[in-house]
Amino acid sequence: MTKGRGGGTLLQGRLALMPPAISARDLSRSFNTFTAVDGINLNVEAGQFFGFLGPNGAGKSTTIKMLTGLLAPTSGSISILGRDLVQNPLEVKRQIGVVPEGMALFGKLTASEYLHFVGRMYGLDKATTAQRSEELLEFMGLADERKKLVADYSHGMGKKLALAAAVIHGPKVLFLDEPFEGVDAIAAGTLKAMLQGMIARGATVFLTSHVLEIVERLCSHVAIIHRGHIVANGSLDELRAGVQARLALPSEDGTIHPIASFGERLTLEEIFLNVVGATDGSTQGITHPEQELAWLS
Ligand SMILES: Nc1ncnc2c1ncn2[C@@H]1O[C@H](COP(=O)(O)OP(=O)(O)O)[C@@H](O)[C@H]1O
Ligand SMILES: [Mg+2]
Repeated sequence: MTKGRGGGTLLQGRLALMPPAISARDLSRSFNTFTAVDGINLNVEAGQFFGFLGPNGAGKSTTIKMLTGLLAPTSGSISILGRDLVQNPLEVKRQIGVVPEGMALFGKLTASEYLHFVGRMYGLDKATTAQRSEELLEFMGLADERKKLVADYSHGMGKKLALAAAVIHGPKVLFLDEPFEGVDAIAAGTLKAMLQGMIARGATVFLTSHVLEIVERLCSHVAIIHRGHIVANGSLDELRAGVQARLALPSEDGTIHPIASFGERLTLEEIFLNVVGATDGSTQGITHPEQELAWLS
């Protein structure tokens, strides 16, 4: 066996031995009689840039809160980097970073004080905390606002600060709920660069979004949740192939779907509308606007 092939085998062996970064088994959450997340199974491998998509109310935020220990599941299990979240909450929380929905920031602190507080809470020493806080404030374009109270931050600035706080301890797995919502184009560019840098250094990123173009540009793997169920899961190419194959089947009247007959590469939006639409019993996943709200002139 050549050296190169031997190395490859070793690497494959190592990858096979590595536990998934995120694993959820039969995960459910109900609110009274309503089941928001209904028995989902997810495996996110270490190093993946994973996009968790779904329409409003599909169960994305509920799922991310469970995966990060912010919300107890009704049933099912979660492990992060091979550790059960319920049995090892502290070890797991040290390895992850999270920017949840409606980030809770301490408004009475300045941005700089806030990052120091979070860094020290994670057990970083003073010098490391100070150095990383400075670097993060610079990177996020918040250096000039460091003395401002967090309560006086705009929504987008608050989001950048929440992200800085989520990564100050160097998490291996980062969870972001709608990270691009409400941030300007410059901040979005900064955020993308940071996330791609983390992926390049071996971290895993799990983000929810309903903005399909962003996910399409950034993520290698995608799961789509709809009404609490996972309706698609795989690499973008796998999802594309699945939808393309379904569309290639003639419909009841014998016609072939125009997208399939063109043989074009499906966009994530087309995949999304088809997957979500198929589970709703429609072919397009969209209601026809002319049928709705006829009283609006
Ligand atoms: N604390 C709660 N109490 C009752 N219902 C909730 C609660 N949190 C979420 N839900 C419901 O669960 C469903 C999924 O919500 P969520 O996970 O926030 O959706 P998404 O993030 O995909 O838009 C929605 O119907 C929402 O109203
Ligand atoms: Mg949400």
